Amino acid sequence: MNNRLLFLGPPGAGKGTQAIRLCDSKDLMHLSTGDLLRAEVAAGTEFGLEAAAVMNRGELVSDSLVLGIVQRKLINQSKGWLLDGFPRNLAQAKALNPLLEKIKQPIQAVILLEIDDELLVRRLLSRGRDDDNEPVIRNRLEVYKEKTAPLVNHYQDKGLLRAIKADGTIDEVAERIEQIIS
Ligand code: AP5
Repeated sequence: MNNRLLFLGPPGAGKGTQAIRLCDSKDLMHLSTGDLLRAEVAAGTEFGLEAAAVMNRGELVSDSLVLGIVQRKLINQSKGWLLDGFPRNLAQAKALNPLLEKIKQPIQAVILLEIDDELLVRRLLSRGRDDDNEPVIRNRLEVYKEKTAPLVNHYQDKGLLRAIKADGTIDEVAERIEQIIS
């Protein structure tokens, strides 16, 4: 089984939902940069205060801050892992490479969750997180298309990309992922 994985896809595609489920069943570390950033915000750290303003606009937090968090989590990690919401742009993807080479843990598969824009907007509006109002959702989607979507070709060129449809029920999407990684 592939146990060093990356989930790629727009906001609302179901990355977090599927990541929690998969990491529970396969005993993988779930590394969600969004969750780690929200924990900083909740703790009211200086970094959290800085990140909150950026997140509430739907923009990306600075690469150096995010990379520091990821590095601390991945180094000394012995079991498999699933990266969720990271890398978010080509600079982060390029910075991840030497880190993974250093720990001798290359990515085995990148799973792209594909979904229609209007469906994801509906999903996020009914969730209602701080950054889930329509103008911010639409900005997150634009940021995804401009900054994150280029990672699709990046990982396709490396032969790692596997795309699945992320519509349907949570169980149906989980089954599609399971087929890819087993
Ligand atoms: P992040 O937390 O990564 O948010 P996101 O990418 O916008 O993703 P979401 O959590 O909105 O969507 P998801 O695909 O995980 O879907 P989910 O499973 O939650 O990032 C937030 C912010 O942090 C960014 O905007 C940025 O500012 C910052 N940030 C994070 N990482 C960064 C990085 N690396 N660099 C810089 N900045 C960074 O599902 C969504 C909803 O749909 C839920 O209510 C769920 O229950 C529902 N749902 C899921 N699947 C289904 C289904 N099959 N059917 C029906 N409903 C479903």
